[in-house]
Amino acid sequence: MAEAGSASPAARPDWDSKLLRTMLFVPGTSERKLVKARTLHADMVALDLEDTVTPEQRPAARNLIASHLPSVAAESSALAGVRINPVATNLWREDLQAVMSEALDYVIAPKTEHSDQLHELDAVMSELEAQAGLEDGRVRIIASIETALGVVRSGAIALAAPKRLATFAFGPVDLAADIGIDLTEEGLELLHARSQVVIAARAGGRLAAIDGPYLELTNVAGLRATTAQSRRLGFQGRVVIHPAQLDVVGEVFAYLSEKELAEARRIIDVFEGVERDGVASVAVDGLFVDYPVYYRAQRKVMLHDRFQDSTENKGTS
Ligand code: COA
Ligand code: MG
Repeated sequence: MAEAGSASPAARPDWDSKLLRTMLFVPGTSERKLVKARTLHADMVALDLEDTVTPEQRPAARNLIASHLPSVAAESSALAGVRINPVATNLWREDLQAVMSEALDYVIAPKTEHSDQLHELDAVMSELEAQAGLEDGRVRIIASIETALGVVRSGAIALAAPKRLATFAFGPVDLAADIGIDLTEEGLELLHARSQVVIAARAGGRLAAIDGPYLELTNVAGLRATTAQSRRLGFQGRVVIHPAQLDVVGEVFAYLSEKELAEARRIIDVFEGVERDGVASVAVDGLFVDYPVYYRAQRKVMLHDRFQDSTENKGTS
């Protein structure tokens, strides 16, 4: 990929931003679901103008979403996102024009396949922010990687639009269609692509990526097992498509168990103790600990504390 060499340096990750464990998608055509979404405790609601909207419904969906965005901001603790149409289409500019406002936190850019698409989106967002009297760069981007080309180019894409690109969302359903495979519960067929998206997001200095949805709406065990796998791979959260999925996904991404927390704290305590005496490698309960293990433990505890904070603020699980 020729573009990799010209990429801008990675920006510092914004560790202070809110955790995105659950990203609830809501069809932009359903007023009932738009109203319901703000009573649910998702970390983000993503109001959709892309694949859940027919061409005939698109103008009405733009208006409906625009009119509901202020209530999401005012009445719910969720961040507000809108999924526009892909930058490769001629639909996304009108989508953006309809929804750009101070109530909007994130634009979700589906089927992103090239860093130039994010540069173009970034430029148009800056224009619209200026017109709306908003600070430049206020609305951030989550780029969906859901095609073979997007996966292959994800390393370069992760370096684009550094002031806006928060992270990637992985799109298993479109990717499976693109490469011609059926999705299984065990997930081996998409393991490589999932990991590549996780790694590319971090290599670009972005936040941890967000995994795609689980489609079997009534299979709780499957949802739990596949979400545990998402977490193990390094995702910070997951797309949710039905209210009944919110609690399970939120729970799996709820940060550390008591045992994990105690282990991480012990690593930190013991390591800091020996470090003061000029030693940087030590055995803690039979586990070898040096700087990378210590840093990982510190980061887990920090994320855990942030999770507790955001949970307390929202008064929900
Ligand atoms: N957001 C907000 N509310 C939702 C919702 C969603 N994604 N999915 C369902 N609900 C609401 C329903 O409106 C209903 O509430 P109500 O009784 O107050 O009307 C309740 O939750 C139970 O819903 P249920 O009847 O079980 O589902 P449904 O048949 O109305 O909808 C789907 C099923 C799959 C069509 C719906 O969940 C959906 O559209 N999900 C989002 C899909 C999506 O956006 N995909 C693109 C990204 S991958
Ligand atoms: Mg898709």
